[in-house]
Amino acid sequence: MEATQPTPKKTLYSAIQPSGSITLGNYLGALRNFVLLAEDYDCLFCMADLHALTVRQEPAALRRNTQSLAALYIACGLDPEKSLIYCQSHVPEHAELAWILNCFTYMGELSRMTQFKDKSAKHADNINAGLFAYPALMAADILLYQTHLVPVGADQKQHLELTRDIATRMNSLYPGLFVVPEAYIPKTSARIMSLSDPTRKMSKSDAEDSYIAVLDAPDVIRKKFRRAVTDSETEIRYDPENKPGVSNLLSILSAIKGTTPEAEAEGLRGLQYGALKEATSEAVVAALAPIQERYQTLMGDKEYISNILKTNAERAHYLAQKTLRKVYKKLGLYQV
Ligand code: TYM
Repeated sequence: MEATQPTPKKTLYSAIQPSGSITLGNYLGALRNFVLLAEDYDCLFCMADLHALTVRQEPAALRRNTQSLAALYIACGLDPEKSLIYCQSHVPEHAELAWILNCFTYMGELSRMTQFKDKSAKHADNINAGLFAYPALMAADILLYQTHLVPVGADQKQHLELTRDIATRMNSLYPGLFVVPEAYIPKTSARIMSLSDPTRKMSKSDAEDSYIAVLDAPDVIRKKFRRAVTDSETEIRYDPENKPGVSNLLSILSAIKGTTPEAEAEGLRGLQYGALKEATSEAVVAALAPIQERYQTLMGDKEYISNILKTNAERAHYLAQKTLRKVYKKLGLYQV
C-alpha cells in the first residue's frame, strides 16, 4: 500500500506591539482569531517591540509590557509548545530583511499609509524615519517566515496590501523568493471603536477611559461601558454610520457571543441603552475572566515565560535565517 504523506500545514503569522495595555480591540480584532486559527496552521506570534520604538517608550514599561504580552498570548489560549511565541528583537533577521525591503519600497507608497499620517499628526514632535519605514519592517516580519495567512484588524489592511505588493515586486525580479501572504480580517470585529469617541478606533495609545483593557478588573469594565458615548435617541439599532456608539456596543456584544449585531439589536428591541451597556459589559467580563485568571498564574512564574521566549526565539531564528540566506543569495550578495 502506498504511504500518504501528511500535507504540510501552511504558515500563519501575526504580531502585536507591546506599547501599552492590550485592548478589547486587539483581542476581538486579532488575538481571539489567532487562537481560533492556530490548530490549522504552523503559527508564529510575535511581540513587535522594534515596531514599538517608532514612538517614544519608557524602557521599564516596554520591558514589562513585552513580558505581559507573552503571558497574555498564552493566557488567551495559544500553546507555546505548538505556536512560536517570541520577541521580535530576539531575532535579528527582522531588522536585516527590513533593510533589504526598504530598498524595494517606494517613498510614495510609504507616504500614502494612513497609519503614518495618523501617527505623524499624533506625535508631531517625533516624525522619525522608523515611523515612515514601519511598513517595510512589518513586511519583513511576515515575509521572513514565508507566511500564507496574517490575521489582523482592519487598520492593518493597508500594510498587508503593501506587503503583498513588495513580495510580488520582488518575486517578479527574483522568481520564487517569497510566499505572497493573505490577510485574514474578521467580519464584525475588525474595527472596534473608542468608547469615548465611537468615530475613532479603540486604541491602546489613547486615554484610558476610551478603551477596555483585556486585563481591566470587572468593575472597571462595567464603569467604562456605563460611560460609553451613545447618542440622544433611544432606539437600539445597528447603524454604524448614524449610530456609531450603539453599533459599536452591538459589534462587541455579537463578536463575544458569536452572533450578528443585527440579531443582538433585535433581541434588545424596545429596551433602553442601559440594557445594551449592561449586556455588553457582562458578556465582556465573563469572556475575559478566565483569561485574567490564567494570566495571573503565568505572571507568577516569570522564569517559565523567559524560558519559552528563549527557546522560541531560537526556533524562529532558525526559520528566519533560511529565508534571509535565500534572499541574500538571490539578490547577489557575495556569500563565502
Ligand atoms: P497593533 O499592536 O496596533 O494591534 C495588534 C492587532 O490588533 C488589531 N487592532 C484592532 N482590531 C479591531 N479593532 C481595534 N480597535 C483594533 N486595534 C488594533 C490590529 O489590527 C492588529 O491586528 N503593525 C501591527 C503589529 C505588527 C504586525 C506585524 C501585525 C507588526 N508586525 C506582522 C501582523 C503581521 C500593529 O501595530 O498592531
